[in-house]
Amino acid sequence: NTRTPLIAGNWKLNLDHLQAIAFVQKLAWSLSDAKHDPSTVEVAVFPPFTDIRSVQTLVAADKLPIAYGAQDVSEHESGAYTGEISATFLRALECGYVIVGHSERRTLHNETDEQIAGKVAAAVAQNVVPVICVGETSDDLEKHGPSAVPVAQLKVALSKISSTADIVVAYEPVWAIGSGQAATPEQAENVAAALREVIRETLGDDVAQKTRILYGGSVKANNIAGFMREPNVDGALVGGASLDLNEFSSIVRYQK
Ligand code: G3H
Repeated sequence: NTRTPLIAGNWKLNLDHLQAIAFVQKLAWSLSDAKHDPSTVEVAVFPPFTDIRSVQTLVAADKLPIAYGAQDVSEHESGAYTGEISATFLRALECGYVIVGHSERRTLHNETDEQIAGKVAAAVAQNVVPVICVGETSDDLEKHGPSAVPVAQLKVALSKISSTADIVVAYEPVWAIGSGQAATPEQAENVAAALREVIRETLGDDVAQKTRILYGGSVKANNIAGFMREPNVDGALVGGASLDLNEFSSIVRYQK
């Protein structure tokens, strides 16, 4: 396939804007030392909202080969929505991506599939690529098997966009997030293949072929290569290990 792998670091609630500047600068040095070629692997970071302007300035000034985006976005464009950030604002800060529907948003902030579909549509409308997160809990896994819940979540998430949309999908089994217990590459591949089928049915074959599907959940330098060998896994959404410069740089260099 012709999909460029994407290694994405979700910082969650970590690193303020000064720490973000230091981290991105060091990450850039490490990539340049490793003669990183962005056409072989794309690297993206997802800092807290308050860091994004600083990251934008640094990336633009030094033309760094690092993409960035937010961890969430409002489904609304503007108005009386205290605390929300619109896709237009993210576009204005040249965010390439935004994470939508992360399991922590679904669980801790009660985000529904419908709301997530609205956020996906809002991001797509502003040309900010949504990284749509889906995944089952261990309870779901027992009751419904491996792909039923992620497949159902993705169907709703894609329901408000058209077949021209540029999207990324991240399969993150909830039981693997932050647990140190990653899925096996085979498990990730099976669900990723089912998710690609959903994209095909909903948005057509072209979008299905070009959409990157990431695996997320306890990805580390020592297990990334196994996931990347799978034909339907096109990268990783990394949480904890994305805050450790050496670990994250090693994940980016998984082929070497
Ligand atoms: O968005 C990232 C995921 O929640 C994975 O987190 O790598 O710490 O398991 P983790």
